[in-house]
Amino acid sequence: MTSKQDKLAALFRSARIVPVLTIERLEDAVPLARAMVAGGVRTLEVTLRTPVAVEAAKAIIADVPEAIVGIGTILNPDDLARAEALGARFGISPGATPDLLSAAAASRLPFAPGIATASDVMGALAAGFDLVKFFPAEPAGGIKALRALAGPFPQVRFCPTGGIGESNAAAWLAEPNVVAVGGSWLCQAADIKAGNWSGITALCQRAVKSAKAA
Ligand code: 3PG
Repeated sequence: MTSKQDKLAALFRSARIVPVLTIERLEDAVPLARAMVAGGVRTLEVTLRTPVAVEAAKAIIADVPEAIVGIGTILNPDDLARAEALGARFGISPGATPDLLSAAAASRLPFAPGIATASDVMGALAAGFDLVKFFPAEPAGGIKALRALAGPFPQVRFCPTGGIGESNAAAWLAEPNVVAVGGSWLCQAADIKAGNWSGITALCQRAVKSAKAA
């Protein structure tokens, strides 16, 4: 378990930004991923929130080899199995259930369960997960809450998401227990719908630059 989590921590630490992609139309998947990769953002979380999500992730894996594709919004063991079967490099969930944690512990897929409270962190640790997604990061207390969680859980590494954007990503990334931040701000629904790929590339470039400075 440790090596699986360490591998994911190393991947997230080198990515620093893990965008949360919600793809409504299959034909947007590849141009969106190409636009993000062109902006220097290669590690992508494709969420299982739309009917085309699995096909979209498969298309990106097949056609955008520079992208490192993970699956997000994994809610149960079936979702986890789907992520593994399509060749995802990692999985992320917004929260955790005992069933999901035990399936993820038994799976080879690197996985970050979602947590929002100390009890959630304890559940994740008991199942062997010391890299977790802090969700929803801003509404659940922001950086103050994260620092408070670092007290009892100094070994835990966090990927906060939820309410993170251009104005606050660098502040989160400056926290020593934050390996990466996630969010949808780099690939908003309106830009995807409009096919504003150059705008998405520009947003990614700006985010990468400010993450490097953080
Ligand atoms: C997630 O799953 O991490 C969130 O939907 C991302 O939150 P955001 O839309 O506030 O960035």
